[in-house]
Amino acid sequence: MTDLPPALETGNYLIDDEHRLLLGIMGNLRRVCVDPASLDSCRGCDHQRQNACEKEVVSQLGDLFAFILEHFSTEERIMRDALMSMTDKALCDAHIEDHAAIAQKVQEIVSRLDSEQTVRRIRELDTLLRRWVDNHIGLHDLMLVRWLNNEQGLVKAGQPG
Ligand SMILES: [Fe+2]
Ligand SMILES: [Fe+2]
Repeated sequence: MTDLPPALETGNYLIDDEHRLLLGIMGNLRRVCVDPASLDSCRGCDHQRQNACEKEVVSQLGDLFAFILEHFSTEERIMRDALMSMTDKALCDAHIEDHAAIAQKVQEIVSRLDSEQTVRRIRELDTLLRRWVDNHIGLHDLMLVRWLNNEQGLVKAGQPG
């Protein structure tokens, strides 16, 4: 599995494993195209190649979308189980809202797929997913796990003996 940069490790095994999976998906997506960083469009590739790339991206996006829904529901279940919204509703709501925004942006890119512009969509997805990794994981997910650890500390501290 892809390695997670130490700064993004939350310490929660389940969440960290899923984030590793996300980095793996991003790598696979970039590998679809011969030059995802600089090609302006897919017009320089022959039709067979264009079709093959589009098909591959569509298939990977199916996996990506299933992963996103699964992963967000994992984190939101953890929040619910910990009754986080009862004590830190604002923190909880902001996190859930950001999940919805990410899912919506991915869907928006998917809706603009076009076999001559696959490389652009790959780039847009890569930028979006990188932002997710840096901003969302680095902020919301880290705060969630910090909050959970704190709560557990409080529960333990409150236990007799
Ligand atoms: Fe996450
Ligand atoms: Fe999250």
